[in-house]
Amino acid sequence: MPVITVPQAFNEDELFVDLAPIVGQSLFLKCEGFNFAGSIKLKAATEMVEAACREGVLRPGSVLVESSSGNLGVALSMIAASKGYRFLCVTDSRCNLSTRLLMEALGSEVHTITEPDPAGGFLGARLDYVRALCASDDRFVWLNQYTNQGNWQAHYRTTAPAIARQFPQLDVLFIGAGTTGTLMGCARWFREWHRPVRIVAVDSFGSVIFGGRPGRRMIPGLGMTVRPPLLDEAYVDDVVRVEEADAIRACHRLARRGFLFGGSTGTVVNGATDWLERHDASGLTAVAIAPDTVYQTNWIEAIYGKDVLSRDFDVPVQAAC
Ligand SMILES: Cc1ncc(COP(=O)(O)O)c(C=O)c1O
Repeated sequence: MPVITVPQAFNEDELFVDLAPIVGQSLFLKCEGFNFAGSIKLKAATEMVEAACREGVLRPGSVLVESSSGNLGVALSMIAASKGYRFLCVTDSRCNLSTRLLMEALGSEVHTITEPDPAGGFLGARLDYVRALCASDDRFVWLNQYTNQGNWQAHYRTTAPAIARQFPQLDVLFIGAGTTGTLMGCARWFREWHRPVRIVAVDSFGSVIFGGRPGRRMIPGLGMTVRPPLLDEAYVDDVVRVEEADAIRACHRLARRGFLFGGSTGTVVNGATDWLERHDASGLTAVAIAPDTVYQTNWIEAIYGKDVLSRDFDVPVQAAC
């Protein structure tokens, strides 16, 4: 029985879902959203804040500031509240309303950028805003998830060994890419493991992490409009790109079996099943990392139209006891 005194002390690291009955392929999903912040970003947030405390960067009176599409913002809001720091999150108009309300409920200030930078998009505009804040007042402390080594080290220390403990015969690991903290931490750890593991990165169409042209993306979390500074492609064996509409369908497919996961997880599951279909996957031990749990439908029809959900998954699941 875990008994905790601070919210960041609880994080379920041993939970996996066997997706075979749902997707018809052998695939295990590592669930990362079961903590008080609701997403995988709790790990990076904890690691970065603890390092800043150890190094004396965070001091009484410091105000944390970070650019986030939402999930890191919630995690930092929680940790800041628990440690008695103020936190200002710089997000943009794609951030879910419920995510913004969560941050505010935890006592954080949220600044929402509504105009993308002509060259750098929303991310460029958010980073300019953070830099201007830091230049205006030296109480601001920017952990900078895009360059902070603690971001990937959190997954090197926790996520990868937790997967290896449960799957000593692991062959292939599917990891969603945003800042690439999760990807690089797991990829580095498995490179040093006793057996080779194929590291497959999953990205959204319209993201430029692995090259290509930028395009519209509405699901927050995965994907970037610039190349992530943490990324070292030498550790990545393969890349799968997923259309947002397919990610949404994957969320619905899981939800129809009672598993409510977020858009990042839908993206990773769709990318993984697509890759497994295209490769000779029989006998492979495959794991995908599910970064989030909360799924919202309110904006989907408005953006993608009614048909996006009706095509494949409006067929009722056969009842069984
Ligand atoms: C829900 C969710 N999934 C995945 C990611 C991407 O993870 P990483 O930044 O470690 O690449 C993020 C990043 O913010 C996220 O919020």
